[in-house]
Amino acid sequence: MSDNVKIPQQAGRSGADDRPEALLRVEGLVKHFPIRKGLLRRQTGAVQAVDGLSFDVRPGETLGVVGESGCGKSTMGRLITRLLEPTGGRIEFQGHDITHLGVAGMRPLRRDVQMIFQDPYSSLNPRHTIGTIVSAPFRLQGIEPEGGVKKEVQRLLELVGLNPEHFNRYPHEFSGGQRQRIGIARALALKPKLVVADEPVSALDVSIQAQVVNLLDDLQDELGLTYVIIAHDLSVIRHVSDRIAVMYLGKIVELADRKSLYESPMHPYTKALLSAVPVPDPRRRGAKSDRILLKGDVPSPIAPPPGCRFHTRCWKATELCRTQEPPLVELRPGQQVACHHPENAGDAVDPTSAGNAAAPVLGDTAEGKAGGKTGGKAATDAPEDTGK
Ligand SMILES: Nc1ncnc2c1ncn2[C@@H]1O[C@H](COP(=O)(O)OP(=O)(O)OP(=O)(O)O)[C@@H](O)[C@H]1O
Ligand code: SF4
Ligand SMILES: [Mg+2]
Repeated sequence: MSDNVKIPQQAGRSGADDRPEALLRVEGLVKHFPIRKGLLRRQTGAVQAVDGLSFDVRPGETLGVVGESGCGKSTMGRLITRLLEPTGGRIEFQGHDITHLGVAGMRPLRRDVQMIFQDPYSSLNPRHTIGTIVSAPFRLQGIEPEGGVKKEVQRLLELVGLNPEHFNRYPHEFSGGQRQRIGIARALALKPKLVVADEPVSALDVSIQAQVVNLLDDLQDELGLTYVIIAHDLSVIRHVSDRIAVMYLGKIVELADRKSLYESPMHPYTKALLSAVPVPDPRRRGAKSDRILLKGDVPSPIAPPPGCRFHTRCWKATELCRTQEPPLVELRPGQQVACHHPENAGDAVDPTSAGNAAAPVLGDTAEGKAGGKTGGKAATDAPEDTGK
C-alpha cells in the first residue's frame, strides 16, 4: 500500500449532499498493480487497473458495470468486496470505512457482502459435494443455521431452482447453468445485503443466460438484495440494471439511470458501445444504422493516454481533450459524464456551475471545434457509418 498515490481528478463528484443513503459508497478508488523487474524486483511501473472511481450503490438497486475487456471491471469488483487491497481511495459499507480492514475486521462483513464469479467451472471445488460447497460459508463463519445445515442447504438449492435432493452430488454432475445456480446458492447462504456478480452469465450458453438473469432478478425481489453486476454484454446490463456505470481504462466515463443512458448517452464511448448492440427488431435490421466503429485498440493501462483517456479513439477529440482530463460531473439530473464535448447535451446543465474546472463545450460538434479557441485540430476520424 503506498500512501503517495495521487487520487486522480475523477474522484470529484457533484450533488453529494442530496444523495440518498448509500449501502456502499466508493470515493476515489485506486488499484495500481506494480510491475517489478530484475533480480532486485524493482518496481518499474504499474498497471493502472482502477484509477479514481467514485460511485454509490443504493439499497435494493442493481448497478450495472460495463466496459471493454481489461478496463478494470473485475478489479473494481474485487476491491469493493475487499478481495483486493486498494492502493488509494475509500470504501464505505453502511457508513463504515472498510477500505483497509484486515481479515478479522472483515469477518462480520463477509456475511453482508458476497461475490458471484464468472466461471461456474473453476469456482466450485470438484472434490467437494454440493452440500459441502453451499454450506462452506456457515463453517467459515461458525454459524449453525436454524433447523440445521442440511435443511438450510436444501432450502437454498430449492431457492435457486435446483433439486434439494442433489446435495450429495459433485459439480461435474451439473451443467454450466446449474453450477452457476450452485454458486448463487453459496453466495446467498449468509443472507447478504450486497452481491457483486462478475460476469455471472457470460460463461453460459445463450439459452441458459436468460434463466440465470431471471433467477437473479427474482431473488432480488424475494430477498431484497442489492446487486453490482459486471458484464460486457450490454443486453444483459440493460435487462438487469437500474443504473449503469460505463468504464474505460480504469475510470468511470458515464454513470446514469438505465433510461437516460440507453436513450440519451452523453459520453462518446457510451454512444459507440450502444451503437454496436445488435438491433433486435427484424423490421429495423435492414435500416441504415448509426453504428460507430471504434478505431484502434484500448491503450495500455500501464501508460494510459494523457488528458481524456478515450481521446486516442474519439472522433470528437480536441487539443483540450488531449491535455486536460475531464472530471466526472452531473450534466443532467442523475447523469454523470466525464467529457469535454458531450453528446446529447441540449438540455444539460452548464457544467461550469457544477464545479467543473475544465468545462465541457456543450452542444459542440466535431466540425464546430475545428477552429475552436482551444486551437485544437478537429477530429478527422469521424465515426464510420457502416450503413448496415
Ligand atoms: N493481479 C494482477 N496483476 C497485474 N495486473 C492485473 C492483475 N489483475 C488485473 N490486472 C490488469 O488490470 C487491468 C484490468 O483488469 P480486469 O481484470 O479488472 O479487467 P476487466 O474489465 O474485468 O476485463 P475482462 O472484461 O476481460 O474481464 C488489465 O490490464 C489486467 O491485465
Ligand atoms: S470529446 Fe474529448 S473528452 Fe469527450 S470523450 Fe472525446 S476525447 Fe474524451
Ligand atoms: Mg473481468
